[in-house]
Amino acid sequence: MTNLIVVGAQWGDEGKGKIVDWLSERADYVVRFQGGHNAGHTLVVGEKVYKLSVIPSGIVRQDTVSLIGNGVVVEPWVFLEEAEKIRSQGIDVNPERLKISESATLILPPHRLVDQARERARGQDKIGTTGRGIGPAYEDKAGRRSIRVCDLADPASLSKRLDVLLNHHNAILRGFGEEEVCKEKLFQDLLDVAPKILPYAVPVWRVLHEAKEQGNKILFEGAQGALLDVDHGTYPFVTSSNTIAGQACVGSGFGPTHIQNVLGLIKAYTTRVGEGPFPTELNDEIGQQIGEKGHEFGTVTGRARRCGWFDAVAVRQIVQLSGITGLAMTKIDVLDGLKELKICVGYEDNGVKYDYLPANAVGQSVMKPVYQTLPGWDEPVEGVRNWDELPTAAKEYIGRIEELVGIPVTVLSTGPEREDTILINDPF
Ligand code: GDP
Ligand code: IMO
Ligand code: MG
Repeated sequence: MTNLIVVGAQWGDEGKGKIVDWLSERADYVVRFQGGHNAGHTLVVGEKVYKLSVIPSGIVRQDTVSLIGNGVVVEPWVFLEEAEKIRSQGIDVNPERLKISESATLILPPHRLVDQARERARGQDKIGTTGRGIGPAYEDKAGRRSIRVCDLADPASLSKRLDVLLNHHNAILRGFGEEEVCKEKLFQDLLDVAPKILPYAVPVWRVLHEAKEQGNKILFEGAQGALLDVDHGTYPFVTSSNTIAGQACVGSGFGPTHIQNVLGLIKAYTTRVGEGPFPTELNDEIGQQIGEKGHEFGTVTGRARRCGWFDAVAVRQIVQLSGITGLAMTKIDVLDGLKELKICVGYEDNGVKYDYLPANAVGQSVMKPVYQTLPGWDEPVEGVRNWDELPTAAKEYIGRIEELVGIPVTVLSTGPEREDTILINDPF
């Protein structure tokens, strides 16, 4: 029995939702293990478009159980709204097929307010967060102040924990000259929402253990991308969770010895939303053309995504530190019609060559990419569903990336639709 982790191997939005949905046909469980509603995963199934942020992409498959692990930060009202929206699209959403870890941290209004106040205060030096309160919620978890899903079941302790939480956040809000959060109102709101959330609450680690014992197939769905990992990404321009594959175990309560494969998601080029270093960024017509053709606008904030060439150096680094065993490449169709394509094969700074991205943000921002140029293709890749029908130049582009990164492309996506997918080697 193979269990599989799917993670983004760039700066997010690689098409994780589409590929997880496609793979979910064969999954019994789909598990989110980090992030929150900063994620935006789009699935296109025939005429229907589903947009998911905190609910696992497996939800649209009737025979799959979706789990939200302890590593996820959950905004209770957003969760309920998202469940309702998917329900209105004809999907069965109930506690039988969707469960949240009782130890997941809640995102509450003070987190959002502090996130936004801090970004405003940083001005030019802002991170470019989604403004959803992700960072402050994870800080509270490490700071042992979090209100967790299980706390909703115990009003007396909830009240005390809320005092601790608001002492901290109201001090910060006061410092920024912002309005403070009223304890009584938030307490009442939480008491009101508790009966709607608690039916979904379970020990996810135990559900997973039993699922494994019964021989079920489990798929772990990452959010964001490895270059946004709080330890391994382009710090401080990162999200506040670990996004690399190792987090699947920590964020769900499932042991590493039970997971066999890791699928790394890559776009055939690179995009990034928000601030931070991006060595292969294209501030020219080609970048604009890729952005328009690829509809590169964030699902969460609507911001235009920055676009650039494929960075084989950064992806190789992520493959190595995430233990990725195969790649799923998406959006190669967006490159249709370009005369030539560039792949970053190294970096250079002041005559010094680098074959990896150093940890320092200033160092990262001065890295100049060293490119290899490959020919583009005339015949379209868009919508091709058979490997043999791909233009030779597209196969060569993929082949060169495999060589540079050191592992094979096992799944290729040629369009947003579920079935615009070519299986080269089964990862699951
Ligand atoms: P995620 O955050 O990794 O799940 O990715 P997003 O859903 O935020 O962004 C990927 C976007 O590209 C979505 O709108 C998908 O529908 C779309 N998409 C996924 N795969 C392909 C592909 O192979 N070709 C094209 N043209 N679009 C794709
Ligand atoms: P999916 O799962 C792309 C980026 C934000 C910002 C940084 C920190 O759809 O790939 P945060 O709100 O997390 O504190 O913001 O991380 N970011 C993403 N970029 N895709 C995502 O998710 C992202 N989630 C967060 O733009 O730069
Ligand atoms: Mg996204």
